[in-house]
Amino acid sequence: MPLLLSLLLAAAPLATLPEPQAAPVEETAPVDWDREFGVVRKERDPVTGEIPLDPYPQSDANAGAAPFKGETMARAFGGQAGIRKITDRALDFSLLDPRIEAIFAEHDMVRLRRTLFEQVCFILSAGCHYSGREMKVAHKSLGTTRADLNALVEHLQQAMREAGVPFPAQNRLLAKLAPMDRTITER
Ligand code: HEM
Repeated sequence: MPLLLSLLLAAAPLATLPEPQAAPVEETAPVDWDREFGVVRKERDPVTGEIPLDPYPQSDANAGAAPFKGETMARAFGGQAGIRKITDRALDFSLLDPRIEAIFAEHDMVRLRRTLFEQVCFILSAGCHYSGREMKVAHKSLGTTRADLNALVEHLQQAMREAGVPFPAQNRLLAKLAPMDRTITER
């Protein structure tokens, strides 16, 4: 009998071990971490691509400088198309400049490209209104320094040079922007 039993056991297929089971995953609803931490994300406007701001008083006076008289300056800058190229280029250089790029990160560059263009266009009397905020309000809490301002002005100069703006016209625009220093820099 023991011999028969051992023969039967030898012929029987090896007992199959149970497949290892994956630990059961607890089904929980995904956590809305933005809500948990009170993060408010503002959606960009689908038409303008800008992040809407709370309403504020709009006026050309917010541009912080009186416009030039006549058309000479607008012509020296190549009209609106030339001004757009120059302000965009100055911002492109700024975003590549390790000294100041971090100040622009996290801010709405779509809006800044539009408002900086409008501001310069208004000051040069090239046919625009400025719809942005006052300089003091727009730069509040950015912590910009005189060195940051110098870096931005370097980029504006480079952009104006590239666009072939005559040197005296470059200086006349810079002279309009220079007094804004007090309202823009904090240290
Ligand atoms: C004369 C020099 C400057 C002029 C004419 C100027 C002009 C402007 C304008 C028109 C706006 C938009 C206002 C609005 O959104 O309503 C703005 C915002 C801003 N500027 Fe300037 N700016 C100057 C200097 C600087 C400097 C030196 C920095 C930093 C390096 C800087 C960083 C910014 C940033 C980050 C914003 C966006 C603020 C926000 O989104 O709330 N600006 N500036």
